[in-house]
Amino acid sequence: MVVEIKKVGVIGSGQMGSGIAHVCAVAGYQVYLNDLSRDRIESGLASINGNMARQVSKGQISEEDRSAALDRLHGAENLDMLADVDLVIESAVENEQVKRKIFSQLCPVLKPEAVLATNTSSISITRLAASTDRPERFIGIHFMNPVPVMELVELVRGIATEDETFEAAKAFVARLGKTTAVAEDFPAFMVNRILLPMINEAIYTLYEGVGSVESIDTAMRLGANHPMGPLQLADFIGLDTCLSIMQVLYEGLADSKYRPCPLLVKYVEAGWLGRKTRRGFYDYRGETPVPTR
Ligand SMILES: NC(=O)c1ccc[n+]([C@@H]2O[C@H](COP(=O)([O-])OP(=O)(O)OC[C@H]3O[C@@H](n4cnc5c(N)ncnc54)[C@H](O)[C@@H]3O)[C@@H](O)[C@H]2O)c1
Repeated sequence: MVVEIKKVGVIGSGQMGSGIAHVCAVAGYQVYLNDLSRDRIESGLASINGNMARQVSKGQISEEDRSAALDRLHGAENLDMLADVDLVIESAVENEQVKRKIFSQLCPVLKPEAVLATNTSSISITRLAASTDRPERFIGIHFMNPVPVMELVELVRGIATEDETFEAAKAFVARLGKTTAVAEDFPAFMVNRILLPMINEAIYTLYEGVGSVESIDTAMRLGANHPMGPLQLADFIGLDTCLSIMQVLYEGLADSKYRPCPLLVKYVEAGWLGRKTRRGFYDYRGETPVPTR
């Protein structure tokens, strides 16, 4: 039986979780947004509000759509509030232990038929599924950043994922107005398997002094026709997320070509994580971004 999804729970109200909650609410789902504290949930809801306002000003949605979508969004401080949802999308930090802990607390609360999905960028769906009570109803639904803008969603089946779960996820993605690309469950799936080694190579290019932050980004924008330079993109993704994905590729594929650049490690150790901390390869604290190297 293909579950009909009406209510969606989202765990993690960071840049991705809030984007996912945003598009679900606009598509007509009742959404329950969870994070570690009331403050974090409120900050997620505030950013959704602002992003929806921007969509209204661009004429992408009407003021009525915005206010109806906001009415469908609920903060869920307690996981018990997800007892009635048909689908949960876990979008907490890219850390396997954190995700496993969330599933162990969440599964006993969920309806047995509820589908459990993760927005992980790189961690094995099969392994995460095996840590839950429902590997057959577990799937990777991998959104791209920023969620309201990007059209693609990668769907990743674990070894045990049932066809009904896959079909429910596919129908859900279609209702969000997004396009599905199906990836097999290998480290970092498709988009990040290709994108992150390029970003890591850009950081090596900086580390080895081949180019400055500005010249590397200009080179790839104008020389490869990329809309954003790779270092600008790394700041946008979050340098901690970039590093975790490279570590998953490095460990999961056991190939030295995926070795994370030591300069990326240094930025993460400094807490310079990109836009979200207002400093990464660029400093965002002033009017215009200034390269930090
Ligand atoms: N940043 C990207 O470009 C991108 C793209 C696709 C997928 N992802 C994936 O999405 C997930 C979230 O990434 P993000 O960029 O939104 O990170 P983020 O740091 O912006 O947000 C993570 C959120 O998770 C919350 N959190 C941590 N532990 C929690 C717990 N136990 N319970 C509930 N909430 C908890 C944090 O408080 C934070 O608000 C990661 O798995 C990441 O790999 C990221």
